[in-house]
Amino acid sequence: MKQIVNVALPKGRLGEKVYDMFEKAGYSCPSIKENTRKLIFENEETGVRFFWVKPSDVAIYVERGAADIGVAGKDILLEYEPDVYEMLDLDLGKCRMAVAAHKDFRDDTDKTLRVATKFVNIAKTFYNEKCRDIDIIKLNGSIEIAPILGLSDVIVDIVETGKTLIENNLEPKETIVEISARLISNKASLKFKNEEINNIKNALALQVEEKKSKDDRK
Ligand code: PRP
Repeated sequence: MKQIVNVALPKGRLGEKVYDMFEKAGYSCPSIKENTRKLIFENEETGVRFFWVKPSDVAIYVERGAADIGVAGKDILLEYEPDVYEMLDLDLGKCRMAVAAHKDFRDDTDKTLRVATKFVNIAKTFYNEKCRDIDIIKLNGSIEIAPILGLSDVIVDIVETGKTLIENNLEPKETIVEISARLISNKASLKFKNEEINNIKNALALQVEEKKSKDDRK
């Protein structure tokens, strides 16, 4: 018997693009496009149930099995290291994790470097590998303000277009890692719903390949 696959989607613009990929892959759920505040949508025929959750929470739902699969940014996977399988790079939501600072900033290695970030684990790992002594200042948003007000020397944050940095007189100094959206799976679900999950993964992988070869031809 075909089992329903529970899918956690990141709420917002990225999530809508991800849903479109599922739809094209044959896993549509038309009611999701209705303008409602509902958060759960099911299509028994195609065998999927979608949930809209906060992007940073997707990995928690999948790790604990409330969702069988989901789509999370590589930033979240590196930061929280959830115990899930990373199945596929969806080549969406592309950006990078970078160190940024004021244009004139020069690192004085005799001093502890003050680093403001939402991504404490990523920042610690990056500077640990360089044996650089740092003081982490954990913030929850608008990180770019920290060096402007003298709260930190540098920031570790996501850079997409680079506009936020430019408009705040900051510049990227170093790329830590490239980021994109990943399909993830709960470990037990992959055993018990192996066929269903792999069918979804393969159909999505096909689309990623098609999009890439289209982009190459441009
Ligand atoms: C992210 C990130 C930067 C911005 C980068 O913020 O933290 O502030 O996007 O995008 P850009 O390079 O295209 O300007 P987000 O909108 O997620 O809000 P936040 O302030 O809560 O981090």
